[in-house]
Amino acid sequence: MFLSITNMCYAIPGKVAELFDNKATIDYFGEKRTVLNEFSLNIGDFVYAQAGVVIQKIETDIATRILESWKEDFMKLKKIDEELAVVDDTVVKDKKILEILKKSDASPINKEDALELLKIRDNDEISLLLQTANKVRQKNLKNSSCIHGIIEFSNYCKNNCSYCGIRKDNLKLKRYRMSEDEIVNLAIYAAKELNFKAIVLQSGEDDFYTTDILVRLIKKIKEKSDVLIILSIGERELDDYAKMYDAGCRGVLIRFETSNPEIYKNIHINGKSDFEKRINLIKNLREMGYLIITGFLIGLPEQTNQIIIEDILFSVNLKPDMYSIGPFIPHSETPLKDSKKIDLESSLKVIAVLRLLDPESKILETTALETLDKLNNGKSGLLSGANSLMINITPMKHKIFYNIYENKAGVEDELKDSIDKTIKLLYSIGRAPTDLGI
Ligand code: 5AD
Repeated sequence: MFLSITNMCYAIPGKVAELFDNKATIDYFGEKRTVLNEFSLNIGDFVYAQAGVVIQKIETDIATRILESWKEDFMKLKKIDEELAVVDDTVVKDKKILEILKKSDASPINKEDALELLKIRDNDEISLLLQTANKVRQKNLKNSSCIHGIIEFSNYCKNNCSYCGIRKDNLKLKRYRMSEDEIVNLAIYAAKELNFKAIVLQSGEDDFYTTDILVRLIKKIKEKSDVLIILSIGERELDDYAKMYDAGCRGVLIRFETSNPEIYKNIHINGKSDFEKRINLIKNLREMGYLIITGFLIGLPEQTNQIIIEDILFSVNLKPDMYSIGPFIPHSETPLKDSKKIDLESSLKVIAVLRLLDPESKILETTALETLDKLNNGKSGLLSGANSLMINITPMKHKIFYNIYENKAGVEDELKDSIDKTIKLLYSIGRAPTDLGI
C-alpha cells in the first residue's frame, strides 16, 4: 500500500488526561498510556513522553498544530498495523502447536508451551508463531513504537569477552574515542535538530571516561535539551551510577548476556565480570530508579533450547522496562570465531516466544538482528513481536570501527539515509511514534 506521510519525527505529543502519584496518563488520539512524571503538570497540558517517562512539556498551540498534522496519518498507520496483524492458521496441522498459539492470544504462555514453540522447525508453524506474536504485540501495544538514537562514543574496552569484536585483545581494531565536546554537541544536535527524544550513549568499558567526565557530559546535554539519556557503558560502581542519575541520566542498557552461570564464566573467562555481580548491578540500578533495558545473546555456544527458555524467563523475572535480545554473530578476531552463526528464523522465534511470555512488554529490535535481515532492514523482527529500534547516529568516521561483530547493518549509511530508511520502514508497517508507557 502506498502511504504518503508528511511527518518525520520520533514522538507525537500526548495530552495529559490524569495525574496521580508520580505518574500521568497520556492520551494519544484516544489511546491512553501511563508514564512516569517529574514535571509540574496540569490536566490538559501537552507533553512528549519517551520510554515511559515525560521528557518535555509543549506549548498548547504548538502541540495542537503538530497533532492536527498527525491525526490523519495516525489513523492511516493504525489501520495498516491492524491489517498486518492477522493470523492464518489454516495450513498448520499440528494440533498441539495450534492449541498453544490459539490460547496465547488470551493469556501469557507457560514454560512448557514456550519450549514446544522454540522446538518448531516446520516453516508454516514458524510463520504462524511469528504472526501470533505480532498479533499479541498489536493487541497490547497498538501501533506504538519508539526510536532511540545511539552514539557509540568509544570502542576502547578493558575487557576480553570472548564473543565481542572490541575486546581488549583484538589488536587489529583501530580504536577511537570521541571527545567530550564531540559527544555533547552530537547529542544536542540529535535532540534539537533531528528530534530524537532518547539517546543511548554506548562504549566499551573504558575508564578514560571517568565518572566526573560522564557526569559533566550528561549535565551539559540535559542543560540544552530534554532528551532521555540512556547509558550503555558496562559495569561501574553503584556510587558512580548514582552520580550519573543525579546529573540527569535516567536509563541504563546493560545485558546479562546469558542466565547460565557456566556459560557466563566461559565467555567472560579473561574478564573481571562475574555473573552474580552483573545481576546485582542490574537489580540495584533498577532500585535506584533507572529505566532498565536488558537481555541476552541468542545462539551462544552450548546454549540449548532449554537454556534459551531459562534466558527468557530470567529476563522476564528482572522485569525490565525494555528487553534487548539479539543474535550472537561470531567475529573473526575473537576466540568464538568458529562458532555456528544462528539464522534469522531461529532468532525471530526467540523474540516471538518472549512476546508470548510477556505480552505487554517492550522489545527492542537489535542491530544484530537487522544484520541478519539486511535486505529487509529489520522488518522481520518488528513483525515478530518487537516494537522499538535504534538509529545509529555515531559519526561515519567512527562507526565503522565500533565493530562488536562484522558487517553490521547500517554502518555504510549516512545518518540522513538511516533515518529515512527507518521512518519509511516503520510507516510501511503502520507504526507510529506514540510513547509506549510503563
Ligand atoms: N554479536 C552480537 N552481539 C554482540 N555483543 C557483543 N558482541 C556481540 C556479537 N559478536 C553485544 C553484547 C553487549 C552489547 C553491547 O553487544 O550483548 O551487551
